[in-house]
Amino acid sequence: MPYPFQITSLEEYQLRYKQSVENPEKFWSEVAESFLWKKKWDKVLEWNFTEPKVEWFKGAKLNITENCIDRHLAEKGDLPAIIWEPNNPEERTRVVTYNRLHKRVCQVAQMLKNNGVKKGDRVCIYMGMVPELAYAVLGCARIGAIHSVIFGGFSAQSIADRLEDAKAEYIITCDGAYRGEKVIPLKDVIDDALVGNKTVKRVIVFTRTRTPVSMIKGRDIWWEDEMLYAEEQVEKNGVVKFDAEEMDAEDPLFILYTSGSTGKPKGVVHSCAGYMIFTAYSFVNVFQYQFPQVHFCTADIGWITGHSYIVYGPLAAGATSLMFEGIPTWPDAGRFWNIVDKYKVNILYTAPTAIRSLMGFGEAPLKDKDLSSLQILGTVGEPINEEAWHWYDENIGKKKSPIVDTWWQTETAGILISNLAGVTPSKPSWATLPLPGVQPLLVDESGQEVTEPDEEGLYKGNLCIKFPWPSIIRTTYGDHERCRTNYFATYPGLYFTGDGVLKDKDGNYRITGRVDDVLNVSGHRIGTAEVENAINMHSGVVESAVVGYPHDIKGQGIYAYVIYTGTHDAELTKRDITMTVSRIIGPIAKPDKIQFVSGLPKTRSGKIMRRILRKIAEGETKNIGDTTSLLDPNIVEEIKNGKV
Ligand code: WT7
Repeated sequence: MPYPFQITSLEEYQLRYKQSVENPEKFWSEVAESFLWKKKWDKVLEWNFTEPKVEWFKGAKLNITENCIDRHLAEKGDLPAIIWEPNNPEERTRVVTYNRLHKRVCQVAQMLKNNGVKKGDRVCIYMGMVPELAYAVLGCARIGAIHSVIFGGFSAQSIADRLEDAKAEYIITCDGAYRGEKVIPLKDVIDDALVGNKTVKRVIVFTRTRTPVSMIKGRDIWWEDEMLYAEEQVEKNGVVKFDAEEMDAEDPLFILYTSGSTGKPKGVVHSCAGYMIFTAYSFVNVFQYQFPQVHFCTADIGWITGHSYIVYGPLAAGATSLMFEGIPTWPDAGRFWNIVDKYKVNILYTAPTAIRSLMGFGEAPLKDKDLSSLQILGTVGEPINEEAWHWYDENIGKKKSPIVDTWWQTETAGILISNLAGVTPSKPSWATLPLPGVQPLLVDESGQEVTEPDEEGLYKGNLCIKFPWPSIIRTTYGDHERCRTNYFATYPGLYFTGDGVLKDKDGNYRITGRVDDVLNVSGHRIGTAEVENAINMHSGVVESAVVGYPHDIKGQGIYAYVIYTGTHDAELTKRDITMTVSRIIGPIAKPDKIQFVSGLPKTRSGKIMRRILRKIAEGETKNIGDTTSLLDPNIVEEIKNGKV
């Protein structure tokens, strides 16, 4: 049976879209009706994009975990909520039923309470992709603590910055995490992050890899011991109970750090009601989910994709969500296809970078894999090139499974532009149409709406959204002004996404990539300024400039121009610089190419002309454009002829 808010035909899409623009409050209150509220709202929406202030379902009371778990228990208690595939395919699989999930989340909530965690406290979660990570996230939500999940690939320094910014007092981590052949010593990284930290009171450590760890008396405690103790408290005569905290619709649910064009990563804040409604709504509509389909999103829960489409969206919809601990290429490049075959996966949601990388292994890893269960495919995180789209369509979807190209961001918390699988048409490399409730607007540099098409009939401009949707970013943690200047000040009255787009005459959108100084490397968002700051910390480095360049698999690679005055061997120094970046940010931000230069192309006012550096990084040295405004045009020649 379709969900009450599921749109199942093109005509219905068009009708619902129109209604959502004409009367957004009516539209969203109808969607909201199918959730579980402790108290209904007084007002559907109050907003302005100047402060900015956005409040959805003001006055309503709820707990998202009751929507994600409790309300499904009667019908689906013994059915799978989460299916977990371990890193090592030989290891036992775990199937977590809704009943089991309920019990575990109640236990975590009790464990947190036992350790003094209260509503509004910040809990940092740094774990591998184990079911306990989902329990930890939901356990926080159950007692109203604000979780801040940090991806396992970030360094101790990055964690330290995030702990400080959020003033987090609690951490949940693992001894280690498995990633293919590697074991990542997570607790060790946390220990480094905590040197000098003054706010953290407790570190709860889950045992996954049995990696040796230090356990500091009075601070570090074992998950297993605490959970056992909590079990006795939440379970009486076989009945599990832990009262969910009553949350205001606008109470913050979580913080997730993401990179921008300037400064350190900022903590994007999302709130309870709007986030819940929009993730469930977009999940059900974009993927056309029907129980008991198995949904496999390959992202890590450390990113927004995992938050919204492994945990909250699917569970709010009572779905079965598959969670995978490992990596696509281990033990071999057929791993995803093994998983699809093993669990009869119906929906596969992954990133273009994974598709391109697997495409490189050819058709051999697909041999003897039964992919016939697949019905819907999805991509997210970066533009998908047509070659990868067709490979995915032909070899994985066997040309019978619609592909949804889903455009969204950490700040939007859910999919804003995408075709609805099998309902609205797909177009290779186009995200296509906005979901009902989403109102994009294309503007030029000066903020004027783009109304004239180019010679090819396409409208080209910067992508803005002119009306709030329920899961729009509410603030950047601890610094509301930063939220305003980053997203709402470039074009007054509009939310600015930072992306460039093309729109065709039928209203389809094609995302062309970031127009600001943000890179997208294998679907990971990295600020050029962040990488530059890290490089500049290396001794002997005077200055640096980082740009992106096209990379066959990663989408974008990181190219660093560095002014180095040290006397050490150049090749060794480049390795040292890479190590520095890895230490300061994490391995995901390591430059792919480093070129030593004696100067950078700057304007007379001292601004680095990145346009020129980008051209050179792309290998387009003939067509550099105008360099007359440069302080020293000769530097361009030097850089062009220099080597990496
Ligand atoms: C940026 C957001 C969305 C969750 C994962 C990334 C790019 C995202 C697409 C797509 C082209 C895309 C944009 C966006 N992006 N999806 N389907 N087609 N580009 O979240 O780390 O916040 O990054 O990813 O440039 O602004 P994120």
